[in-house]
Amino acid sequence: MSAGNERGVWSSKMGFILAAAGSAIGLGNIWKFPYITYQNHGGAFVLVYLFGIAAIGMPIMVAEMMVGRRTQKNAVGAFRELGGGKWKFVGALGVITGFILLSYYSVVAGWTLEYFLKSVNGAFEGLTESEVGAEFGAFVGDPFKQIFWHFIFMALTVGVVIAGVAKGIERVTKALMPMLFIIMLILVIQSFMTGGGGQALHFLFRPSFSELTVDSVLEAVGHSFFTLSLGMGAIVTYGSYMGKGDSLPKSALVVCGLDTLIALMACLVIYPIIFSFNLVPTRSAGILFTTLPVIFTKMPGGALFGPLFFILVAFAALTSTISLLEVVVAYFIDELKWKRQQATLILGGAIFAIGILPALSNGAVASLSTVNILGKRSTGGIFNTFDYLVSNWMLTVGGLLIAIFVGWRLSQNLKDEEFHKGEQTIFHYKMWDFLLKFVAPLAVALIVIAVIFLGKEFN
Ligand code: TRP
Repeated sequence: MSAGNERGVWSSKMGFILAAAGSAIGLGNIWKFPYITYQNHGGAFVLVYLFGIAAIGMPIMVAEMMVGRRTQKNAVGAFRELGGGKWKFVGALGVITGFILLSYYSVVAGWTLEYFLKSVNGAFEGLTESEVGAEFGAFVGDPFKQIFWHFIFMALTVGVVIAGVAKGIERVTKALMPMLFIIMLILVIQSFMTGGGGQALHFLFRPSFSELTVDSVLEAVGHSFFTLSLGMGAIVTYGSYMGKGDSLPKSALVVCGLDTLIALMACLVIYPIIFSFNLVPTRSAGILFTTLPVIFTKMPGGALFGPLFFILVAFAALTSTISLLEVVVAYFIDELKWKRQQATLILGGAIFAIGILPALSNGAVASLSTVNILGKRSTGGIFNTFDYLVSNWMLTVGGLLIAIFVGWRLSQNLKDEEFHKGEQTIFHYKMWDFLLKFVAPLAVALIVIAVIFLGKEFN
């Protein structure tokens, strides 16, 4: 009974859609997508990515929503109820993944707050790109600042989640998501004024398939998972607060559409500026924290658009961190009968504590920054090790198991019934079931095989 009271429900259909879109839209869209698209030469990579979203991401998103909405339970409870003791491990894997992912995601999210303040104060005025780069290096290597901003971001996340599903998560996402969209639109327009818009569109939407490699196909598909918050029960958890009559295919269509729109818009903010200033962004963090701050000091209105941009990224990150924490909190509320307040504070505190390791592993503490437990090219330092494990292993294996579970294990009746509640769309049941049974597991299995047998690293 007490657990029932501690759980929640969205107060409206829009509640789920905005919260799920908020979860999906994050650093993956604004930071990661523009730079991996750049590295993979645009056009053809974007097409494969769109295919990944539509043919793999969307079906799995419906599957996750279905498991959550049907059972009205957290990830572990939901899989146990529908699949028995064996399958509850898929949910448990999700809870653990959420724990680890949040611990380092919050570190990068914290950087956006520092950069917001810096750009408000005009700290980049008159600096060259290499000076800003050096400053970034010094910042991520500053132990006090890294722990401080990580703490602030976790505190903000806890502050939202502790207030509950409707009063916390839904209220905050309803306020932030429209703002995020408006700021993004303003920035796209401003960015096009630099004159690099044509080149940016050309780069994004003119595919040249000769530049597409097997690796970039796998990376595009893998990223479609990360960006949609799939594979770890986040959408199961949010789906568990959904109304019984809401349409699953329609909600998935809208959430995937919004996520894709924001990812493309992020490119249309970043690329025109970069092209018009003739810059070659090379490093990942470089685009956001080195290249852009310099450009904002040079472009008209930059004193306003710089801070706007960084607060936008912070909003996007916050609506993602709250869903990560909610996955973990919901498990403790449902299964262990904790109170929401207690669960949020203790787990938020624990994730903050674990996150100190990645926070100090970008230069602050030498041993944490260089230790390479897995011995891979991209896994030097705790931060990179966590990201490698989550992006390559945990989300993909989780997603594969979810696709197999809903595709092959759930009864046709149950799926049929859940799918057909609420409004229907062009995304038909037969198509969904086919994609989920065959296309999604095959594509994801290929990624897992590439990671295991070919030693691929996507992060
Ligand atoms: N989708 C988020 C982003 O693009 C990151 C993410 C991955 C995530 N899995 C998640 C967020 C689960 C919340 C829950 O930045």
